[in-house]
Amino acid sequence: MKILLVGSGGREHALAWKLLQSESCTKLYCAPGNAGISKDVECVPIQVDDIEKLVEFSTQNSIDLVVVGPENPLVLGLADALNNANINVFGPSAKAAELEGSKGFMKDLCARHNICTAKYGRFTDVDKATKFINDAGAPIVVKTDGLAAGKGVIICENEGEAVKAATDMLSGESFGAAGNEIVIEEFLEGEEVSFFALADGKTIMPLTSAQDHKRVGEGDTGPNTGGMGAYSPAHFMTDTLEKQIIEDLIEPTIAGMAADGYPFTGVLFAGIMVKDGIATLLEHNIRFGDPECQAIMMRMQGDLAQILLAAAQGRLDEVRNDISWSNDAAMCVVMAAEGYPSSYKKNTVIRGIDQANSVDGAYVFHAGTARNNDGDTISIGGRVLGVTAIGSTISQAQSQAYKAVDCIKWPEGFCRRDIGWRALKANSAAA
Ligand code: AMP
Ligand code: GLY
Repeated sequence: MKILLVGSGGREHALAWKLLQSESCTKLYCAPGNAGISKDVECVPIQVDDIEKLVEFSTQNSIDLVVVGPENPLVLGLADALNNANINVFGPSAKAAELEGSKGFMKDLCARHNICTAKYGRFTDVDKATKFINDAGAPIVVKTDGLAAGKGVIICENEGEAVKAATDMLSGESFGAAGNEIVIEEFLEGEEVSFFALADGKTIMPLTSAQDHKRVGEGDTGPNTGGMGAYSPAHFMTDTLEKQIIEDLIEPTIAGMAADGYPFTGVLFAGIMVKDGIATLLEHNIRFGDPECQAIMMRMQGDLAQILLAAAQGRLDEVRNDISWSNDAAMCVVMAAEGYPSSYKKNTVIRGIDQANSVDGAYVFHAGTARNNDGDTISIGGRVLGVTAIGSTISQAQSQAYKAVDCIKWPEGFCRRDIGWRALKANSAAA
């Protein structure tokens, strides 16, 4: 099978790493990729949103399967364009991608199909939004309807703050067109978990759970980021909770999308709040999480290429038992450029990646990296490396991941030293 992987982040490096282990994958290309991916994969200089060129490349090179990493090209219609050209694609149509691309679409789907989520309203008018906020009271959550690079969610402690957030969003001041419409919803308390499942339009294949660390600072403080580290499985996941998530949140979403005329193919990444053992849906994403994917790929056993092709072709029921999960835990520690998520320096040299890779159970997935003329690895993004390790326990995975982190010589980079703290705290409380 000849595969084209679309994307350039740590998630895509992890997918490339797993696809290369798939017997059925005979040739892998990545557009545009990064310095780590290019070591083992032929990278082609096509940007992720250049739909025309991606389709043209796939046709000219007889690609058997296109795997799309990020959400943007999907929202722009990459899967539709590939389907029209008769090329198998793992990823949803533009309409199905609205599940992530429009928070209002996702909330209305939940309302129509009885999927448990926070109570909400959709608004384009400040006065109506203000009335809703004052009636509901704080704490309350204000969200842009459209994609805002993970930043369009504001948790408001009081009503004044919420009215200001809504006003700024709707005026176009804070988020441009993404804020032309907003969703205001009830604040949910509890512990967050992410759950991943594949879908082929009708059938689902549950994968596994993970936990992210969205804040930049230790102890989950400071501004939100794309994710500073993750581990899998989530420490409080039980068979009962997993069953409830699948039956109450995932299956009705896929059935609802099909019933409404937008069958969903790809990976569904559900953000979930758990309180008193009950799961409520916070949001759906239509892609693997980054850095969750890095941890998940380390635990996955099976031929990923075959599974993704089966999903693309509507045959997930045939491969149901072809993936299993290591009982080990995996953890990814993100190394970012000093200053991230605000402004940061680029083009600084990173050394020690080979030494990090020689740590037992560890592997360094690249995100924002490139190579300079001397062949050195340099940083070109905010989140730069995903230092990932597998171990028999979460504590073992953490210790190997940080051993690998300590091999990296990059004075202009930093990481959180406490990834996995909730799991370790829960374990020590149980001991
Ligand atoms: P989202 O982009 O929708 O994932 O939201 C980002 C983060 O905001 C989530 O991971 C949660 O931590 C938080 N969040 C979003 N919606 C709610 C809510 N209704 N109640 C509490 N926290 C929320
Ligand atoms: N790590 C969170 C995300 O990928 O959205």
